[in-house]
Amino acid sequence: MTIDIGSPLLLLGRGADPASERGVSCPGDLPPASDPALVERAHAAKAALGERLFVLGHHYQRDEVIQFADVTGDSFKLAQEAAARPQAPYVVFCGVHFMAESADILTGPDQRVVLPDLAAGCSMADMATYDQVEECWEVLEDAGIADDVVPITYMNSSADIKAFVGRHGGTVCTSSNARRALEWAFSKGSKVLFLPDQHLGRNTAVLEMGLGLDDCVVYNPHRPDGGLATDELRAATMILWRGHCSVHGRFSKESVDDVRARIPGVNVLVHPECRHEVVREADHIGSTEYIIRMLDEAPAGSAWAVGTELNLVKRLADRHSDKTIVFLDKTVCFCSTMNRIDLPHLVRSLESLARGEVVNQITVDEETAHYARAALDQMLALP
Ligand code: 13P
Ligand code: SF4
Repeated sequence: MTIDIGSPLLLLGRGADPASERGVSCPGDLPPASDPALVERAHAAKAALGERLFVLGHHYQRDEVIQFADVTGDSFKLAQEAAARPQAPYVVFCGVHFMAESADILTGPDQRVVLPDLAAGCSMADMATYDQVEECWEVLEDAGIADDVVPITYMNSSADIKAFVGRHGGTVCTSSNARRALEWAFSKGSKVLFLPDQHLGRNTAVLEMGLGLDDCVVYNPHRPDGGLATDELRAATMILWRGHCSVHGRFSKESVDDVRARIPGVNVLVHPECRHEVVREADHIGSTEYIIRMLDEAPAGSAWAVGTELNLVKRLADRHSDKTIVFLDKTVCFCSTMNRIDLPHLVRSLESLARGEVVNQITVDEETAHYARAALDQMLALP
């Protein structure tokens, strides 16, 4: 048996690994984080750019960055917003690499998408490489089931995985439309290959589609044939890729038991990237946009333990001081790559654009973009 350990780990922001969401190092000088004029500089550059600039901010971004976003959202809303702004020549994406790639695919040919720090990747997206997914498809072909399989990739995947899925008649999904994506896929085929987040795939199939845990198998790209026997593949309805989010994967059943013991009557609200044992114990499950809506609408005096990224939970706790809002786990956990985008990187991006210089542009090659767009358009068209 051979175990593929992949390429050596690079420190974030150092060295080049174009095949990975870790990206490449950023050129040029950053303003020092200690510069007290950073906020003022960002406002000035943004004002100078005016209508030529559109800034998108994912909910997991730092407060210091999110204050400059023209629109905030979950990955679905941000994809829709990127597609709906053809007039802005510059789109600055405060989020991670796969989101900026999707924005580049969904925007027009004259629009430039900028990611303020190229090292803002996503460890989950890195868990499925193009070669691994091609190899998996060959395994499905050898098992004689590829024609029955509709591939779905979570938005949190690289553009070439989205293109693979587009080429094979599948769709992209996000945490806010995974159920609709599965319903659509099962109207076209009898099996789904779900990439790269096993938890979102399993949670949606079992809790929203009524499938059993026995209907799901996990394909491990580091084992020969995914670690699965042909009979297991043939019997499965959901073939889940062995990927996960390192932030949401930290929450456990013990985190839920512990918070329920500490805060009687607490409502447990989690993102579907959490493990099945966690979402099964939760009171409410949904995307970041759903989590925000639930807490906005919750009555004063209610108590909530939230299982998602810490920047968002802290912001919601500050916004709703009449409610008790706590992080689901006892240890704090930010998404380290989302946190790469900070004020110095944003200021550098905005000031460079104001000078007419595009730094850290994200571009997807035409052929990849063509097929990835097919899978993204399919998602945007889901009923
Ligand atoms: P959503 O934005 O779809 O809620 O996903 C959360 C996430 O992990 C983004 O990286
Ligand atoms: Fe990736 Fe998880 Fe961070 Fe989202 S929160 S960018 S899925 S590592």
